[in-house]
Amino acid sequence: MAKPKQRWACGTITDRVHELRVSYPKSGSRFRFLALTDLHWDSAHCDRAFLKKHLDYALEENAPVVIVGDLFDIMQGRFDPRADPKTLRPEHRGSNYFDLISATALEWFKPYASILCLITPGNHEASIIKRNEIDLIDRLTHSLRTQHKSPVIYGEDWCFLLQKNERTTGKADVRTKKIFLHHGYGGGGESGRGIPQHQATRSQWHADVYISGHIHRRNTDHNVVTSCSGKGNIETTDQWFVRCGSYKQELDCGWHISRGAAARPLGGWWITTEMSRSNSHTDYNTFPEQP
Ligand SMILES: [Fe+2]
Repeated sequence: MAKPKQRWACGTITDRVHELRVSYPKSGSRFRFLALTDLHWDSAHCDRAFLKKHLDYALEENAPVVIVGDLFDIMQGRFDPRADPKTLRPEHRGSNYFDLISATALEWFKPYASILCLITPGNHEASIIKRNEIDLIDRLTHSLRTQHKSPVIYGEDWCFLLQKNERTTGKADVRTKKIFLHHGYGGGGESGRGIPQHQATRSQWHADVYISGHIHRRNTDHNVVTSCSGKGNIETTDQWFVRCGSYKQELDCGWHISRGAAARPLGGWWITTEMSRSNSHTDYNTFPEQP
């Protein structure tokens, strides 16, 4: 079956602000992008079949993919105290570990070059830059852009993605949803499950949708903010906090078990926007869905 026509384009406005322009041909049109975090792609514990299944769904419908930190695991360098031979994949054994990761990642991700939209770093990539002065996301995104014509952008550790929803029939209308991207912070313990960090993030950055990961839990938190317009009208705005799960299967992961953690939900989220239009009004409703 032929792939649907691409309805989106991405670009950079400033270092920390990017845009995703989307067209909506008629009332009821839907658009979605795939939000992922914590692939830990090079770990032997990464469930690559599950990851491939989700990326293939996105490829089939020409949907953009946004990856918010820890695409790489990269803990198996010779001088890394976290190294564990059980998580080192055979193709990454060699004296040039970072080069091997870099080359194999490009081969694995190149079928998705056309849909990779924005990749930001997580604590795993930041740690390697600090310890080894090598930036693997920079290498990957640069190679995807220059060798495979990918639109992919390398974003900062926190940044905004402005989803500019444009109605392409009738009266011109562009409505922007502000999406805040940050890999995440905090421990994500059993009782809080990352929810206290949602509140801290909300009080410091203002957005419609917040995407994070980091604690390898998967949940959403729907908030409605009530305000009053300058004309005296009461208005409500939806806010979604979307926490993506990992793609690393940690049931047999020694470090994970040693800190009292068991298996966790895997997978990211689709972030869907539906346009509905009447004579006087156009609404863009954004919400998360299962991938
Ligand atoms: Fe992670």
